Amino acid sequence: MENAKQSSYQLPDLPYDFSALEPVISAEIMELHYTKHHKAYVTNLNSALEKYHEAESKHDMASMIALQSAIKFNGGGHVNHSIFWTILTSVSKQTEINPKGIFAEMIKRDFGSLDICKEKFNAATVGIQGSGWGWIGYNKNFKRLEIATCPNQDPLSAQGLVPILGIDVWEHAYYLQYKNVRADYVKAVWQIFDWKQIEERFHLATSC
Ligand SMILES: [Fe+2]
Repeated sequence: MENAKQSSYQLPDLPYDFSALEPVISAEIMELHYTKHHKAYVTNLNSALEKYHEAESKHDMASMIALQSAIKFNGGGHVNHSIFWTILTSVSKQTEINPKGIFAEMIKRDFGSLDICKEKFNAATVGIQGSGWGWIGYNKNFKRLEIATCPNQDPLSAQGLVPILGIDVWEHAYYLQYKNVRADYVKAVWQIFDWKQIEERFHLATSC
């Protein structure tokens, strides 16, 4: 039990203030999203893992199996949000307006152009039924970028892709500001992507 507590997951520091992503994402949304939603995924993940370790020590297979959906949901929520915070930045601190280098070349190769990539990504992401995430992921087997969507908090890795860039389209991510117009929110998020961080994620995905 002690080991489980020592290795428990923590809410990572947000790399900017709650108001840093305004006007694209309001401070109110950021504060709720980070301090309530992401924090709840971390708390519930740790709780489910603690119960899982306890069940495992008792060879209670039924409980172990029953806990797997909570681990997947909350673990996915923690992983997804931890990526999301780091690929966004304040417009005033943005050093690149568009992707550069090999990542930009691969976008052109795999989608035709950045505009086509955006169009396809936005259509797929806006079209998610209910809650989920839209992603551009790297397929290591075929060495190419792909657009994918995930329901709920399912991690993109379950589809065999390495997450490079993504947008949370749960209503908690935009409804207070954009109401039901998910398309406006998704389109606006492109203004605050931190391309340096995204290019770094791409380099890591392609180099190992
Ligand atoms: Fe979220």
